[in-house]
Amino acid sequence: MTQLTKVKLTGVGAALPTQVLSNEDLAKFLDTSDAWIYSRTGIRQRHILEANQRVTDLAVKAGKAALAQADVAPEQVDLILLATSTPDDLFGSAPEVQAGLGAHRAVAFDLSAACSGFVFALVTAAQYLRTGTYRRVLVIAADALSRTVDWSDRSICVLFGDGAGAVLLEAEDTDKEDGLLGFELRTDGTRASLLRLEVDSFQVISPTEDMTFPRQVYRTMTMNGREVYRFVASAVPEVIEKALFRSGLSLDQVDYVILHQANQRIIEAVAQRLNISPERMVSHIATCGNTSAASIPIALAAEMEMGRIQSGATLVMAGFGAGLSWGAAVVRLG
Ligand code: UT7
Repeated sequence: MTQLTKVKLTGVGAALPTQVLSNEDLAKFLDTSDAWIYSRTGIRQRHILEANQRVTDLAVKAGKAALAQADVAPEQVDLILLATSTPDDLFGSAPEVQAGLGAHRAVAFDLSAACSGFVFALVTAAQYLRTGTYRRVLVIAADALSRTVDWSDRSICVLFGDGAGAVLLEAEDTDKEDGLLGFELRTDGTRASLLRLEVDSFQVISPTEDMTFPRQVYRTMTMNGREVYRFVASAVPEVIEKALFRSGLSLDQVDYVILHQANQRIIEAVAQRLNISPERMVSHIATCGNTSAASIPIALAAEMEMGRIQSGATLVMAGFGAGLSWGAAVVRLG
């Protein structure tokens, strides 16, 4: 049987908007407080994309940083996967990211799996490498959910921030160690109504008496926070255990777990269920809030910059969110 090509994660990068919105700032126009937000979520502040900036710009910045770390030129990239639920263009923002990076050889497309987008894109990227189709795949996760929330709804708008994170995956010789040790991805569309960013209504245009053409209008994000929390607290540990089983590793052999940064209480609840010490759970929620698909690579880039996570580290990454979708990947850094 032909051996599949292996995968190596060689670069990580991130980009955050410069505009910072603190809990105190929110309390100036909402019936909320730093005490409520911090105790319920662990969030102190979030970065918000300015009106004249685009998600594409953030994605390009994060992608450039990942390529620089790997010492790979943009022209060497074969494929760019952009995980986002908030593209600047619904036809896809990945092509403009490709142009912005100068990665003119790369094919580029968007992948939409909400807050699970990074893990889903990482696993998708690995399949192209394993089959030998491509040698270098840049996975970028970028979101600006601040643009989708109702800023008068305190139950939702306080949770989200904007940002982008990226990793470069490269093909590795078959005799070397594999960087993607195992994964498990799940979807449950019967629970789609728990988290939505959907078409709400149609502006109906009647060009003639007997014809009506509907034009879609999106509503702001809706979420049943309590139900999502309840679901995630049991589904995420299960999927992590499955991914570990597939990788042939036990949790003791993992250095750090990086969950999608949605809520500090979720991070702690998952740690408790898995019986893992809090120091091995990565948390950057205080400074960034929930940056949707981007939260895992943003946290990874920050940890690497601080020198806490280093090459050779074994990580579990787990995303979860709308769909509902959730999944975990066991990764060893190159
Ligand atoms: O990334 C996508 C995945 N999403 C998630 O993982 C989100 C999961 N869910 C959560 O993280 C939590 O459910 C939330 C942080 C969203 C909410 O926390 P909670 O402890 O479940 O609060 P709650 O919704 O049950 O609300 C408790 C109270 C309510 O008041 P009453 O009804 O008890 O009087 C809310 O009206 O807190 C009130 N409240 C607030 N108060 C001050 C809700 N939001 C706020 C706020 N400031 N911002």
